[in-house]
Amino acid sequence: MQTAASILVIDDEPVLQDILKTLLTSNGFETYSAMTAAEGMQRLFEEEIDVVMLDLMLPDRNGLDLLPEILARAPDLPVIIITAHSSVESAIEAMRRGAFHYVPKPFKNEEVLHLVRRAAERRQLERENRFLRSQLEGLGEIVGTSRRIQEVFALIQRAAPARANILVAGESGTGKELAARAIHRHSPRCNKAFVPVHTSAIPDGLLESTLFGHVKGAFTGAVNSRKGLFEAAHEGTLFLDEVSTITLETQTRLLRVIQEREIRRVGSVESRSVDVRLVAASNLDLWQEVQAGRFREDLYYRLNVITIEMPPLRERAEDIPLLAFHFLQTFAEENQRKVTGFTPQAMDALTAYYWPGNVRELENAVERAVVLTQEEYIDLETLPQVIRNDERRPVVQAEVPASGLDFREAMADFQTQLIKAALKRSDNVQRRAARLLRLSPTTFNEMIHRLGINDPK
Ligand SMILES: Nc1ncnc2c1ncn2[C@@H]1O[C@H](COP(=O)(O)OP(=O)(O)OP(=O)(O)O)[C@@H](O)[C@H]1O
Ligand SMILES: [Mg+2]
Repeated sequence: MQTAASILVIDDEPVLQDILKTLLTSNGFETYSAMTAAEGMQRLFEEEIDVVMLDLMLPDRNGLDLLPEILARAPDLPVIIITAHSSVESAIEAMRRGAFHYVPKPFKNEEVLHLVRRAAERRQLERENRFLRSQLEGLGEIVGTSRRIQEVFALIQRAAPARANILVAGESGTGKELAARAIHRHSPRCNKAFVPVHTSAIPDGLLESTLFGHVKGAFTGAVNSRKGLFEAAHEGTLFLDEVSTITLETQTRLLRVIQEREIRRVGSVESRSVDVRLVAASNLDLWQEVQAGRFREDLYYRLNVITIEMPPLRERAEDIPLLAFHFLQTFAEENQRKVTGFTPQAMDALTAYYWPGNVRELENAVERAVVLTQEEYIDLETLPQVIRNDERRPVVQAEVPASGLDFREAMADFQTQLIKAALKRSDNVQRRAARLLRLSPTTFNEMIHRLGINDPK
């Protein structure tokens, strides 16, 4: 059953409040009244309101100024302006600022009822649409049914509505940016901008002006004033990719902006307030960067109110078939190829592989296969060599001497041997060695440091 639409009347005239209350409740609406702007905002905060009727002349505020604040809180909320005949111009100005409609005083009951019904209907429609959209989209393109990725979905859904900054951690290609976009889409900021900043791609000297903007003449080449990405993301979400690459100097400025919720364009003394939710991503262990003195600890805590850890693909291998199919469909359509599936051998190889490059590597492998295949089903030979050759032979026979051994020491020793062997086989090129061991370059590098392998001879 549909519940009655609720109408909030913000007007300081008790007589008018009474008339509207009687009229609306007798026609099946639920009503709330507020005599001041402050009281009105309070009600909006406490109650689920469907339509607002707003007087333009309130004791504490001008209704025209209150309107944008109401709409900022609830962008879809229809607001009907109540206005004296003499000030129809302000009512028209209010419509320009996003009001649903206006009723001139004194009004006819039918006129008010008709408008309120229409407004409530529109509100209801928007609610239903938003629900359908969210059902359809789920979490957007984030594909996966494994427990690990389901946990990520759940966390995104719980964390998205808040304003808290989020750190998305995970190896390269695990879907950090995708997660950041999902956070934005599931937040109340979804109708505002999502602004990605690929900090590592921006030269050091330009990052500050890119983020905070600059005024004309702030530095050589600044021929015009420009607004920064923080301003572009106002009321929306700013995605700071690869935060660990930001210099300590810029980190300091960033911290100040987060604390003060104000930015100052480079070369300007004037502050502007900005309301931005930050989602940061890093494929390095940011805490380790803090320990190493390369990342400010206070900034770390500011960014990392909530952490979302994207699991590597090899730790959720049950998602591989689903992801492979998802990419197959995407690329078959994009290339207008009739490719409908994988042979069992090809799928086995895909599931057995270690995926150091995670989902991005899988995506590329499938795209390549879709383009190369002559058949309807993708077979082994269209998959990249490394994937086909992923033989998982055991390399050692484990033995435990009668006296026993220290398990952790033995493991570290074995890891050291493997890493040295891999480095030797790849002429000491770490990237290649990492690939031989199906490790991401970052993990490989971390292991080298952890195991103290400095002289790989
Ligand atoms: N769960 C998933 N479902 C569908 N597509 C995915 C998923 N995870 C990642 N992808 C796809 O894989 C590619 C890599 O994802 P994304 O760019 O989000 O990763 P990343 O962690 O930001 O990588 P990097 O650290 O290299 O920047 C993208 O094309 C993305 O669409
Ligand atoms: Mg990324």
